[in-house]
Amino acid sequence: MKISTVDKLKENLSEIVTIEGWLTGIRSSGKIAFLQLRDGTGFVQGVVVKNEVDEAVFESVKKLTLESSVRVTGEVREDTRSKLGVELGVSTLELIHSPIDEYPITPKEHGVDFLFERRHLYMRHKKPWAILRIRDEVERAMHDFFAERGFIRFDAPLFMPTAVEGTSNLFEINLFDEDSAYLSQSGQLYAEAGAMAYGKVYTFGPTFRAEKSKTRRHLLEFWMIEPEVAYMNHEENMQLQEDFVSYVFQRVLDNRQIELDLLERDQSKLQSVADGNFPRLTYDEALKKLAEHGEPLEWGDDLGAPHETLLGSLYDKPIFIEAWPTQTKAFYMQPYDDDPTRVKCADLIAPEGYGEIIGGSERIHDYDLLKQRIEEHNLPIEAFEWYLDLRKYGSVPHSGFGIGLERTLAWITGVHHLREVIPFPRMLTRMYP
Ligand code: 4AD
Ligand code: MG
Repeated sequence: MKISTVDKLKENLSEIVTIEGWLTGIRSSGKIAFLQLRDGTGFVQGVVVKNEVDEAVFESVKKLTLESSVRVTGEVREDTRSKLGVELGVSTLELIHSPIDEYPITPKEHGVDFLFERRHLYMRHKKPWAILRIRDEVERAMHDFFAERGFIRFDAPLFMPTAVEGTSNLFEINLFDEDSAYLSQSGQLYAEAGAMAYGKVYTFGPTFRAEKSKTRRHLLEFWMIEPEVAYMNHEENMQLQEDFVSYVFQRVLDNRQIELDLLERDQSKLQSVADGNFPRLTYDEALKKLAEHGEPLEWGDDLGAPHETLLGSLYDKPIFIEAWPTQTKAFYMQPYDDDPTRVKCADLIAPEGYGEIIGGSERIHDYDLLKQRIEEHNLPIEAFEWYLDLRKYGSVPHSGFGIGLERTLAWITGVHHLREVIPFPRMLTRMYP
């Protein structure tokens, strides 16, 4: 018995192979049965012809129910009508497990809540299955990009003594003896320590934000990639972001064609991103454009979802919005030498309504200025002693950014809501399964 997998079947043309998988659909008439099979690597059709198999095999096939686990043996045949290009001419079938109850997810339309209540089963279905395969490819591409450029992977802690990205969305955790800690909003501060030790580092891990709003762009728990580089300035930081995003998009185009097809994603949109050359606007220019399009903002206001969507819709590539008001952004950002009211930072805004994908900046490297900022932001100075040490001993200009994995994936796969792109989403309205 030669075990194969659906993704390798094309290499097994005319051979007899066995697929270990599950039944996702069945149609049968008196003489022929069509089995839709899935094995984790793909979906394939099995054809059982009554005259060509033992009577017992055909009878057992007719009794199969959805999500039966089966070992199916047959000949690999060309099938030009299917995207896969092959089908299985089934000769024998071994039933491993027959579902105890009727499988709840059927081809009819189910509501989002129904499906996410059954997320553990729903991920077996074509669209979610394709999305999470793309997630895997994107994660791998991200690691490869940094490895090829000599970055060290550097893991930041998840229990934190302080806030990094403001105090309004912090999860507080009770530890022993009434001590408290916070769940990490960002690994950046630790990555900065890493950059001073290794030059180029990146973190890759879960981050937490207590977002009370129920938007399609916010999760309570999401994954972030945060590179940090010593001696890198704001300009070089933006170039790194552009190279990184283009690389990831090209990898998905190269390696996840079947999945993108299943999702019916417009790939010309992805190719345009993979080609680079992201437009750049200053914050002031962005405000002007918003006013021209009937969404005026006061200088110093943050962009909301409608503003990001509008700006993103003006281009077919992601856009950098740089040089934000100092008052609007985090305490650690480096001001311009000739204009302390603005900081050397950029947000990368995706087209097609996906909003902010990346936040990045040059960091303050001067000890006194950083200390002053921590005080101005009413942050507990004791908790930042170690962070200030990085400016006491061999301080250098340095920069970095944070890219949200789920925001990036929603954009690549073209889905509406972030819950679709993580195996088990954590939201205000969902903790189960
Ligand atoms: O812009 P943010 O808050 O930046 C930071 O955390 C910096 N410390 C990064 C750095 O410079 N190292 O978050 C970065 C990205 C956002 O652009 C967005 O893609 C994502 O994280 N993000 C979220 N994704 C899903 N759900 C949420 N609630 C998110 N909040 C931020
Ligand atoms: Mg941000």
